Amino acid sequence: MDIPFSRWHLAIEKRRSRRYFDLNLSMAPEALTALDKVCSQFVPFPHARSRLVTESADSVFKGIIGSYGKVRDAPAFIALIGNMDDPFVQEKVGYTGEGIILEATALGLNTCWVAGFFRPEIVASLIEVSNKERVLAITPVGYAHQFESWQEKLMTGFGRSHNRRALSKLVRGLPREKWPDWVNPSLEAARLAPSAANRQPWGLDVQDDGITVFVGTMGPEFNVSKRLDCGIAMLHLEVAALNSGCKGEWEFLPSPQVAKFKIRS
Ligand SMILES: Cc1cc2nc3c(=O)[nH]c(=O)nc-3n(C[C@H](O)[C@H](O)[C@H](O)COP(=O)(O)O)c2cc1C
Repeated sequence: MDIPFSRWHLAIEKRRSRRYFDLNLSMAPEALTALDKVCSQFVPFPHARSRLVTESADSVFKGIIGSYGKVRDAPAFIALIGNMDDPFVQEKVGYTGEGIILEATALGLNTCWVAGFFRPEIVASLIEVSNKERVLAITPVGYAHQFESWQEKLMTGFGRSHNRRALSKLVRGLPREKWPDWVNPSLEAARLAPSAANRQPWGLDVQDDGITVFVGTMGPEFNVSKRLDCGIAMLHLEVAALNSGCKGEWEFLPSPQVAKFKIRS
């Protein structure tokens, strides 16, 4: 499936994590069909996939302690699954999952990446998962309450969890005056990517022939690979590059680099 870049580019600005859903608003059958279709068709890498599960997500969070990860009343969820034999599985699942999340956003649905704070064994009991695969993350889907409750506002630090670092803190390489037109919007889109605990672990290296995404922050991973976050930023970067008329390919790289978006000449 080709990336519907103008549709997903608009969704990058619109998307934000929502955790409390409205039980009274059921998803329209057309939205479910469209979501199921994108899950089966957006498979950019053979070792990463997604599955829509049209069952309440509550059982998947049952018994999880603490407020982070608390998701309530979502009527459905999407499992994001990777084949652990692939050395680049984390970034591939991040990239694939964010495509599905941007499509859900474009359909008017709400989502929230959750990795670490859910019960993968419950998810695996609801879908088929081979012994090489793991459910690395999920996202609830549905319609969130129109207005955030106090509890949800507290959880997001009254919107602070949506703040991002300045581009100047993330970027190295070619000086700004030498950037071709597609570079700035692509870096901006990568900057807006969501990440676990909003840690924004990515760095972005601008070169003559493309942009390399690398893990740019030290510190513990807390059970969720920073390469997963970087895969999400990669998808944002490519969506914006395409939207600026620039096509390219990803070359996966060993740690601490993640992948280079090489422009097609
Ligand atoms: C890989 C990943 C894992 C996440 N895990 C959780 C989680 O377990 N619980 C949760 O409430 N939010 C989780 N989030 C949501 C982040 O906290 C959120 O994306 C970040 O604070 C930025 O906020 P925004 O998505 O509203 O822009 C996760 C996000 C990512 C990308």
